[in-house]
Amino acid sequence: MEGTLKQIQAYAKEINAFLPKDEQELEGFRIRFLGTKGVVKSFFGEMKNVPAEGKKSFGQTLNDFKKLAEEKYESAKAALNGTKEESSHAIDLTLPAEPHRLGAHHPVSVVRKQITDIFSHLGFVIAEGPEIEDDWHNFTALNMPPDHPARDMQDTFYISRNPEWVLRTHTSSVQVRVMEQGKLPIRIICPGRVFRNETISARAHCFFHQVEGLYIDEDVSFADLKQTLYFFVKEMFGENTGIRFRPSFFPFTEPSAEMDISCLICGGKGCAVCKHTGWVEILGCGMVHPNVLENCRIDSKKYTGFAFGMGIERIAMLKYQIKDLRLFSENDIRFLEQFTGA
Ligand code: DAH
Repeated sequence: MEGTLKQIQAYAKEINAFLPKDEQELEGFRIRFLGTKGVVKSFFGEMKNVPAEGKKSFGQTLNDFKKLAEEKYESAKAALNGTKEESSHAIDLTLPAEPHRLGAHHPVSVVRKQITDIFSHLGFVIAEGPEIEDDWHNFTALNMPPDHPARDMQDTFYISRNPEWVLRTHTSSVQVRVMEQGKLPIRIICPGRVFRNETISARAHCFFHQVEGLYIDEDVSFADLKQTLYFFVKEMFGENTGIRFRPSFFPFTEPSAEMDISCLICGGKGCAVCKHTGWVEILGCGMVHPNVLENCRIDSKKYTGFAFGMGIERIAMLKYQIKDLRLFSENDIRFLEQFTGA
């Protein structure tokens, strides 16, 4: 009996000192002391050998011993789980911080803003219109009746639900919408996305961006158009940029012209970019055709006006010497990051 008590004491000491380093050790402890063939069970098995008068106190000792082992098991288990949780949530202050990536404005947005800023200094205000247009605003009102050959130059996408609807081929449609409102004079600049049914290549895409300008008042002349565009080119490309106008044709302007600037790469000497001419085309322009004014219920005897339209990507390509139009819509961050929002 005494020997048994000594054994229990020795086990109690061991239990008190027990500190498992992992789950495996803890499970070993459970099996050894609390398992069906464990130490606690085997001591209870000795009960039958204890004389009647000693049964009560031996039973008490065994219960305390069992409680000790159970409590140790629970506390050791809690301690193990605690460390596990702590280590998974631990913050390592020495780790380098997550990099915070700063975005940049898209080059089309950068250039669009530069263009609209320049014209707003001359009193032009921004006007916008829908990308899905009707035939009237995109073609007919602009002096391009159905079957007019000029429509072939701007093949677009038609909306199958209604063949009258098209994805606009130019922002000139916004001119019409503003003129129809009948508030004169008009001095607007219209940036926006346009669509053409083109095979995608380095020089053409099924969508791109334009800025259209329109000025209508009494006595507006071609000289006003030239001065406005001179101002724009000097602001956009620098004081020393050369400018020339070439006669051209657009159904909605008469006379019409295309404007070239001296090549920014070779300064006019001739290189691959300007195809050795020294000049690159940047926009179309002209005096608004009287038919267009009349289509929009503006008295063409009293009012005259000029209009112009340019591609934003084209200006950006010249300014930043980008060779492939597709880069603007590929979303390659290495390309996009090179332009600041300034
Ligand atoms: N809408 C023409 C185009 O997309 C560009 C243009 C030319 C606009 C002459 C004009 C203009 O307003 O007068 O090719």
